[in-house]
Amino acid sequence: MKVLVTGGSGFIGCNFVRHLIHTTDHAVVNLDKLTYAANPSSLQDLENHDRYQFVRGDIGDPACVEQVFNQFEPDSVVNLAAESHVDRSIDAPEQFLQSNILGTYQLLQAAIRWRCRLSSSGKSAFRFIQVSTDEVFGSSPGNVLTDEQAPYQPSSPYAASKASADHLARSWFKTFRLPVIVTYSSNNYGPFQFPEKLVPLIILKCLRQEPIPIYGSGEQIRDWLYVADHAEALRRVLEQGTPGETYNLAGNCRRTNLEVARTICGILDERRARRSGKRYAELLTLVEDRPGHDQRYALATSKIAQELDWQPAARFERAIAATVDWYLAHPQWVDGSLRGGYHLERLGLPGYSHPPQPSGPSGDSTDTQRG
Ligand SMILES: NC(=O)c1ccc[n+]([C@@H]2O[C@H](COP(=O)([O-])OP(=O)(O)OC[C@H]3O[C@@H](n4cnc5c(N)ncnc54)[C@H](O)[C@@H]3O)[C@@H](O)[C@H]2O)c1
Repeated sequence: MKVLVTGGSGFIGCNFVRHLIHTTDHAVVNLDKLTYAANPSSLQDLENHDRYQFVRGDIGDPACVEQVFNQFEPDSVVNLAAESHVDRSIDAPEQFLQSNILGTYQLLQAAIRWRCRLSSSGKSAFRFIQVSTDEVFGSSPGNVLTDEQAPYQPSSPYAASKASADHLARSWFKTFRLPVIVTYSSNNYGPFQFPEKLVPLIILKCLRQEPIPIYGSGEQIRDWLYVADHAEALRRVLEQGTPGETYNLAGNCRRTNLEVARTICGILDERRARRSGKRYAELLTLVEDRPGHDQRYALATSKIAQELDWQPAARFERAIAATVDWYLAHPQWVDGSLRGGYHLERLGLPGYSHPPQPSGPSGDSTDTQRG
């Protein structure tokens, strides 16, 4: 099948696109706006692959989206394109509403129109996968695991924008019978993640010998999913998921932010000891908490385990070490990602002023690039 993947030049997107190309016979069209969070070099290895094509464009631009459907004739859509950083959604929410809500709306509309033109077998095979987040459910108390039926209680503008997009997608299934499936993923980690996110930020702060900011007490709990496991789960949902259903995807690996930070510091102590003889953990610094910061996310994954036979394969200690090694081995990728103007500074504190972000990545890009 030909899969239209949006946001394929971002962190999860590039890992998912590479997974599809290397483990299936599917062809992939990657529609990506190339915001600051994208790094075109993340998919450089696929540039000349005959099953990969890239289009630079905005999912919120109806003419662009329509043209992509007409030109590439996809059999399914996986919508990963989004503004994804909670801190930025506090500083500047509007782009989150534009891309995450209105962008998803435009994609849904174009998907309905396109699906009408398919044969009856094409219509029934068509899928629209909306990639969402555990953050739409808000904080989950005590030892409770959040299942797919939990009510939405988003706390941040980011989570609210993702929740809105999910509501649109789910209603398009009910009203227009578009075969929509929504996935809720926990926190991802792995190669190619933009350095504003917790794991790469800690690694890079260590390498620069700078204080590592930990929000609030650092006792907030997240479930950590290795991105390769997420890619595999999305493929299963795409190929075997039931339209109208929703699936939690998580690593079943809950850690406090401080635990994650200390683990990374310990790995770097072994890999690249500080000249001063001090431990990297000495750089950990508690800073003012993020407004609206949820205390705990914890998803139940029994549904996808039972229905689609998916389990996360990665072990956290090994996969986080592999992630650290990847960042150590790819300084040029990091430099390219930071060329857009982000310098590992604190974002998301109201009243804190920082330079506005440029809208595009630093690398060269052409509007359409045939793989
Ligand atoms: N990273 C996580 O831990 C996580 C967890 C749960 C859910 N998600 C969801 O997974 C998806 C991917 O997340 P990520 O971490 O890879 O994000 P990311 O920020 O690394 O990448 C997002 C990509 O989307 C593109 N994009 C943004 N707005 C666009 C638009 N209007 N049109 C076209 N492209 C656009 C960007 O250029 C970028 O390549 C998002 O929908 C996010 O909400 C992420």
